[in-house]
Amino acid sequence: MKQGTFVVLASGRGSNFQAIIDRVKEGFIHARCVCLITDNPDAYAITRANKAGIPHEVVSYKSFSDKIRYEEALMEVIARYNPDLIILAGYMRLLGDRIVDTYHGKMINIHPSLLPAFAGLHAQQQALDYGTKVAGCTVHFVTRDMDAGPVIIQRTVLVLDDDDEESLSSRILIEEHQAYPDAVRLFFEHRLRIEGRRVRILP
Ligand code: GRF
Repeated sequence: MKQGTFVVLASGRGSNFQAIIDRVKEGFIHARCVCLITDNPDAYAITRANKAGIPHEVVSYKSFSDKIRYEEALMEVIARYNPDLIILAGYMRLLGDRIVDTYHGKMINIHPSLLPAFAGLHAQQQALDYGTKVAGCTVHFVTRDMDAGPVIIQRTVLVLDDDDEESLSSRILIEEHQAYPDAVRLFFEHRLRIEGRRVRILP
C-alpha cells in the first residue's frame, strides 16, 4: 500500500512538528512528511526541517496584499505536495472557509486546552485565570469555527497551586508531544471516523 503523506504548517518553535517527525523516524507513524510550510521566515521550525532533510516553503503573509491572495498562494503550495493530511502545529493564523472546506476531514490542529474550554490565544493563562484544577491539550479536526472541530484526543494535566503560565504550558507541552503523534498515527491507520461532532476511534 502507498505510504501516506502529510505537510505541517507551523509559525514558530515547532516542537510539535519535531515530536511528529521523530515518531515517523522511529517507525511509530507510518507516513512521510513531505513539506514544512510556514508563514514566518524566521520560524525555528525551518531549522528543524533542514536538520531532518524535509523541504520547506515560506508563504509569508506580508508578501500579499490581502488574506484571500495569501490563502490562494498557500493552497497552491499545499496542492503541489498533494498531502493526505495537513497538520497545523503552532500555526498562528486563522484559515479561511475555502481552504478549511477543501481539506475537510484532512486537516488537524492541536490546542493547549481541554476544548471547548479556553479557545483562542493564551489558553493556558485562561485556565489559570478561571481557576480550573485540570488543564490539558486537544487534537481536533479543523472546521470553519476556531478551535471547534471534532475532538480526536485529549490529554490532561493537574493544575498546581503555584503554577504560572510558563510552568503550566511546559507540562501541557509534554502531553501535546504525546497526543499529536498518537493522533497522526491513528489517522494514517485509517482508524478515525468522524460521526457528527464525535470522532470514533476504530479498533
Ligand atoms: C502549542 O502549545 C500548540 O498547542 C499551540 O501552539 C503551540 C505551538 O508550539 N497551537 P510548538 O511550535 O509546536 O513548539
